[in-house]
Amino acid sequence: MMMNRRNFLAAMLAGSVAAPFASRILAEEAVPVDPNHLVLLSDTHCAPGLKHQLDFMRKSISEIVAMNPRPGHVLIYGDFAFLYGKLEDYKLLKELVAPLDAAGIPWTTCMGNHDRRENFTEVFPEHAEKSLMKDRLVFRVETENVDFLMLDSLIEPPETTRWITPGEILDDQRDFLNETLKASTKPVIVGAHHDLNETKIADILKANDCVAGYINGHHHYWTTYEKDGVNALILPSNGHWGDIGIVNATLSPKEASFKLFMRDYLLLNKGPDFEPNPERFKRVEAKQGAVWRLDL
Ligand SMILES: [Fe+2]
Repeated sequence: MMMNRRNFLAAMLAGSVAAPFASRILAEEAVPVDPNHLVLLSDTHCAPGLKHQLDFMRKSISEIVAMNPRPGHVLIYGDFAFLYGKLEDYKLLKELVAPLDAAGIPWTTCMGNHDRRENFTEVFPEHAEKSLMKDRLVFRVETENVDFLMLDSLIEPPETTRWITPGEILDDQRDFLNETLKASTKPVIVGAHHDLNETKIADILKANDCVAGYINGHHHYWTTYEKDGVNALILPSNGHWGDIGIVNATLSPKEASFKLFMRDYLLLNKGPDFEPNPERFKRVEAKQGAVWRLDL
């Protein structure tokens, strides 16, 4: 007979399961979750054979899994894959995020300009089926105090060996966004891979009082900006180039706060030719711990 988790724990309590194994399971069972703590990543740019991108992805994932309490969700703001959104990139990413799945930490990614919907869907069908739109990958992540709406700004060229840098939100997604926001009973933080200059949705966000702010990736540098009255944040890259780091979000009924944890990517590349870059260190020092706050 297959032993499910409940039967296993019952057997353990009855003394028929080896004690060290049982205590490890119990320890895993005991890690609490803070549903008001989210981790935000962006521009992971992973593909087979890459060095620092994969090192940083493994590092971020292992740190997130080790958090106690564990975060309620991990949000990834696109460019999950390296350049062309290849199937092999997503197959590798499946291995890289497996510790999140094993720890029961849910994650959601939106599409960046280096992603491909079809390949992502083939490897992660259980994610794609949660999309709120049919021809786009659009997701809503709900939390107690605020929801995160992750839009799809990817323009896919027909050739599989090319990418298009700009992004767009077409009329059908604009209509979807407007209707969704109008119906929302909670504050919403809208986001996409591309910034508001490219998604051109500030008018919709401004017209809906439930919108607290906007988050995007793409530029790889932690930056706060304002576009037509909407407060926005650009995330660092998890491990490609630019500002390298992750962002921890703390959510309360009145406020969402986002804190930058920045890494120095040179630290992982120390070799015989390593030369410290003082400008780089200064930038990490200046930005470390930066906080962006939104009223809810
Ligand atoms: Fe990127």
